[in-house]
Amino acid sequence: MSKSNVEPHLIVVFGATGDLFHRKLLPALFRLVKRRAEPVPYRILGVARRGDLDDASFRMLCAKALESAGVAESDSARAPFLAALDYQTLQDGVEDSYRSLAERIDALETAHRLPHNRIFYLALPPQAFPATIAGLGAVGLNRSAGFTRLVIEKPFGRDLATARELNALVHTAFEEPQVYRIDHYLGKETVQNLFVFRFANALFEPIWNRDRIEHVQITVSEELGVESRAGYYEQAGALRDMVQNHLTQLLCLTAMEPPAQFEADAIRNEKVKVLRSIAPISEDDVVFGQYTPGNVDGAQVRGYLGETGVAPESKTETFVALKLAVSNWRWQGVPFYLRTGKRMPKRLSQITVSFRCPPVSMFQPFNTCVLSSNQLVITVQPDEGFDLVFEVKAPGDSMTMRSQRMQYRYHEHFETLPDGYETLLRDVIVGDQTLFVRADEVEKSWELFTPVLERARAVHGYAAGSWGPAAAERLVVSEDHRWVQR
Ligand code: BG6
Repeated sequence: MSKSNVEPHLIVVFGATGDLFHRKLLPALFRLVKRRAEPVPYRILGVARRGDLDDASFRMLCAKALESAGVAESDSARAPFLAALDYQTLQDGVEDSYRSLAERIDALETAHRLPHNRIFYLALPPQAFPATIAGLGAVGLNRSAGFTRLVIEKPFGRDLATARELNALVHTAFEEPQVYRIDHYLGKETVQNLFVFRFANALFEPIWNRDRIEHVQITVSEELGVESRAGYYEQAGALRDMVQNHLTQLLCLTAMEPPAQFEADAIRNEKVKVLRSIAPISEDDVVFGQYTPGNVDGAQVRGYLGETGVAPESKTETFVALKLAVSNWRWQGVPFYLRTGKRMPKRLSQITVSFRCPPVSMFQPFNTCVLSSNQLVITVQPDEGFDLVFEVKAPGDSMTMRSQRMQYRYHEHFETLPDGYETLLRDVIVGDQTLFVRADEVEKSWELFTPVLERARAVHGYAAGSWGPAAAERLVVSEDHRWVQR
């Protein structure tokens, strides 16, 4: 994550009338530009199918999006930012349309004296990736006299075969060092802090292994249901939507070996090694669930089958819990439990490392170590921070113990945490691939989960507002463990 100087550049965003651009990318670009200590020449060219927009009406749309993101009209950075936005219509799969795009890019670079540093951001539904990548390649927009970078949103493929196909297509036009595959979890400040936590503090490394750690849990729960995204979610489900990418990244950063250097490929090599060490996932080690009507935060909510756009007999999972074995010297025999779901009691992303019990339990109450072993709880969101859970003597005559927490909370020490997209966009602009997923990494992850997706499965109901189906409890209890949040 080097902070090298920002060079003048042009960002071309495909999908510029879409939700991702307006809700996330535009506000993040605005904040990035505003925070720069020195102004750097840049332009942002929005590209979409809509033919009824021009530069002026596009800027008006963007002004509204900034307003919704809380940017005040009186903000002096707003007007110059809006003036740096342009719009270009593009027809899918039409080569002439890409030629016009190339001409527009040249014209903008000439008019604004920009060197040919270009970033193409595909904020598009995945079915539009192939035609766009092919279109860029066909008219030579994959190369320039400056740098050319391609940013691809998730999902990257829907299984191993499609991910390989997409990688092959990307590589017909772009070299891997030009490619930035997004997993927005890697942009989260607390996720990046896992590097610092593990590799800048000598305290934890000697105990970060099978000798001292009993098991690891990774939970990413959401209160929200499928909302208005049934069209996408029905085809995806929780395993594709969350586990293959976000939870797997959290797992890799928790389990990886220290890289030789803090450098993109050294880090990504270590993550790939973790993925290669994970044993095939057996059928008994996966639990799928789907929310039924229930109560979240005091409000009665519909079940998944009652959501708009969901097929009445849908078997799409909105919850997954699974047990993984990272079979290497560091982790052999330490179960990693991953769990994610929609319509759970609260929004929480947390990694819990449970340490082994003392070899002899000599205090009251006896034999309760499994329930109160020392834990390190890393909260990725919300209320970002760490807790160290340990035993103390409860005051009084008898020698009884209580679990207590030593806490560190970001908000008590730092004012704001930057948004993940701001971090990721900054890294694309400076050419740092550390927080982006490499081709082999995405394939390794699909290699692990594709067999699970292809197997016949039972999908257990769980009431909205609960921590998932009972079968997910059994998954951990069978190993004498229990979910920390339950
Ligand atoms: C997205 C998924 O990648 O991540 C969504 O498609 C999910 O279904 C979202 O809600 C969660 O992200 P965050 O940052 O809110 O935890």
